[in-house]
This record gives sequence, C-alpha cells and structure tokens, in this order.
Amino acid sequence: MAFSYQENQLYIEDIPVLSLMQQYGSPCYFYSNAVLQQRWVAFTTALQDYPHQICYAVKANSNLALLRLLAKQGAGFDVVSGGELARVITASGDPTRCVFSGVGKCIAEIRAALQASIGCFNVESREELQQIEAQAAALGIQAPIALRINPNIDANTHPYITTGIKTSKFGVSEQEACALYRLAAQSPHLKIEGIACHLGSQLTTLSPFLEALAAESIHLKHIDIGGGLGIAYNQESVPTPQAYGQAIIKKLAGRDPALRLIIEPGRALIGQAGILVTRVEYLKTNLDHHFAIVDAGMTELLRPALYQAEQRIGSVIQKPYLPEKKYDVVGPICESSDFLGKNRLLQIEGGDYLVVYDCGAYGFSMSSQYNTRPRCAEVFVQGKQSTLIRRREPLERSWMDELQQDGSVVDLDG
Ligand code: LLP
Repeated sequence: MAFSYQENQLYIEDIPVLSLMQQYGSPCYFYSNAVLQQRWVAFTTALQDYPHQICYAVKANSNLALLRLLAKQGAGFDVVSGGELARVITASGDPTRCVFSGVGKCIAEIRAALQASIGCFNVESREELQQIEAQAAALGIQAPIALRINPNIDANTHPYITTGIKTSKFGVSEQEACALYRLAAQSPHLKIEGIACHLGSQLTTLSPFLEALAAESIHLKHIDIGGGLGIAYNQESVPTPQAYGQAIIKKLAGRDPALRLIIEPGRALIGQAGILVTRVEYLKTNLDHHFAIVDAGMTELLRPALYQAEQRIGSVIQKPYLPEKKYDVVGPICESSDFLGKNRLLQIEGGDYLVVYDCGAYGFSMSSQYNTRPRCAEVFVQGKQSTLIRRREPLERSWMDELQQDGSVVDLDG
C-alpha cells in the first residue's frame, strides 16, 4: 500500500507525510513511484501478447521527471502541443514513439513535429490534413498520419468509460473519413499509418473502416484507441488495465496480426500515484455551516471547481478525539467555485494537513497562478527517499515577463 496509516500517521511509501510537509512546505504534490510502476506494469502485461505501443497522455501530468521515468521504461507519448513535444524530447523521450493529437495544431507545431520525426499525426480535419501535407512538402519529407474518427456515440453507456465523450470538435466524421484516406493515399507527402479514436468503446466502429480501406488497398499499420480508462475516485467500479487490455485484444482477434495497437492512457497510469497535501489555515462556522479553509484551491486542483469532481479527502494525522463535523473544504481564492470538497466528514483543527487523493492526473498540469499564487512544489517518493521534482515557484516569476510602460523589464531587485 503506497498510501497507508501507521499509528494514525499517513505515510506515502516509507515516509510520514507530515515530515515531508515540514521539509517541502505547503501545499505540495507527492507522487508514489510504487503506484506508477505498478500501473505501468499492469498495462504492459495486459497487452504483452499483442503488438502494441503505450503512448502516455502527457496532458495528464507533464513533469519532466515523470516523463523521463516513463521514457526509460519504453513508453511512447501522446502530445497535444508543440510544448508537450518539447517536454518529451527534453525528457529524452523518443519522438518516433509520439503521436500528436489535437484539433488545432498550428504551422509552427506541425513543422517542429515533422522536424523531430514524430511517429504519427492524429489528424482531425480536412484542412489540417492539407496543412500537414503542405508543410511536409515544404520540408521535402513525408508526414505519417492517422485520421481520428469521431463516431458520434454516447460514451456514457459503455462500461469502460467514466469520462464523458468530448464535444463534436474532435475528429472527422465517419462519412468524411474514407474520402480523406483516399486523398492521403494519393499524396507523395503523406504516409498513411493508422486510424485513431479516443475511447476504447469506439473500437467497434473502426472495424468497417479497416475493411473498406483494405478493399481499396489502403493498409493500416496501427489502430489507436486513445485514452479514457477511468480510475475509482470514490470506490466506483472501473475495469483494471488487465480487463481493459483483454477486452480490446478480444475485439482485435482475427485482424491482421501486424496491426499494432496504440493506447493513450493518462489518468489510469498516473492518477492514483499522486496526492495533494494542503494545510488547514482556519476553521469557521457560518450559522451551522462548517468550513475548513485550506492553503490550496482551484489554482492547485481545478477538477472540483471545473467538473464538480469528487475526490477523497482525509487527514494526514488522524485525530479521533476531535469532534467529527461535515466541512466544506475551501481554498483561499476569491471565487465561490473555489473548493476541494464539500460536505466532508473530518476530525480536524487549524494547522492540520489534509490529503486529497488521486491527484496525479490533471492536478498539477491544470494548475494556474490566478490571484498571483505561485505554483506549488512537486515531490517524487520512492521508498524512504523523496526528491523535489519541481520547486515551488518564486513569487517574482508571476510578473517577470511583464514590462514597464517604457518597455523595460521590472527590476527584480527592486
Ligand atoms: N487521448 C486523447 C485523444 C485524449 O483526448 C485524452 C484526454 C487522452 C488520450 C487521455 O485520457 P485519459 O486516459 O487521461 O482519460 N481534464 C479532464 C480530463 C480531460 C481529458 C482530455 N482528453 C479531467 O481532469 O478529468
């Protein structure tokens, strides 16, 4: 158990969280190496009997130390911006094992990706296909492409999905896809690699394409089913990577054995590895409503404010002798939507530390500096060892790119 209580003290692996907070300050993100490794192994063993590539969705958590760790294990990456690609390269990730997703890749990003020899563009519109072709032609090379299909199905009905289907801005319609493949097949600057969708449940809808394209001698080398496998934020039942992998392989049975499977997990790989720890600054009661005001908020963890996401909250030191009350755990930001959890039964007092679980994915990566709050630190934990993998931002960072009226930079020394 990577997160466990020993004599009422929360430990992450072999270190008491309280001692980490004394060392690194509050608020702070912590990641467990054991959980990340365990999830990585779960995915790789689930797919070991099928040719595959796991492309970690960088958007979930793009810290260089984590990317480096995954790159060392042989991960590929799903990137959605030139910035994410640059991060992967900086972390010694292999660009040829990268897929580039996203509806709005700009020319500079397309060129950077071509120059880095990325594995595949997941193309999301006709105009984008034409832009990629034009840029590849200008560079005198071939761009590897897959079309991302938007099958327009209700993801919520499928057991493998806990996140909602994306709005229709993603992908190209089934109707348009065949015509675009034909277009790509005729271009000397485009190389058809595969087909992509975002959710495993959409796999079935890709089958007719494989047949239709094969009939036209357009052969695909891979099938990319995206990410979207959930985690149990609140004891929901979600498939394990093993069950997910098996279900997919079963659906691929009988296909060309050379057809490689690509998956793009983000949340399911890193989500459960991370926690956010925050200090209770004040308790207050307005009439009969209790608030725990903590030093992290929507700037550190946006998911509750943005999606009304419910993530488990507990005490770093359990104090069974305190009265149990229902608290809204709120941050210091001047927004009513700034909360980490509502109606949480807690036994706490001012100065305590609270832990928010399952923060490894879409936690730090969605954090902001709103209210001029420097972004918090991130720490990696392995057994008895902790490593700072992102410093707490110095306050001056908030305005160092802002200019004075005469165009000069602000003198940081005053
Ligand atoms: N591949 C594609 C094409 C995607 O759009 C996404 C996520 C992923 C992979 C990774 O999905 P995952 O395995 O992590 O579910 N900020 C939201 C989640 C947004 C997901 C966007 N796309 C949240 O905090 O829940």
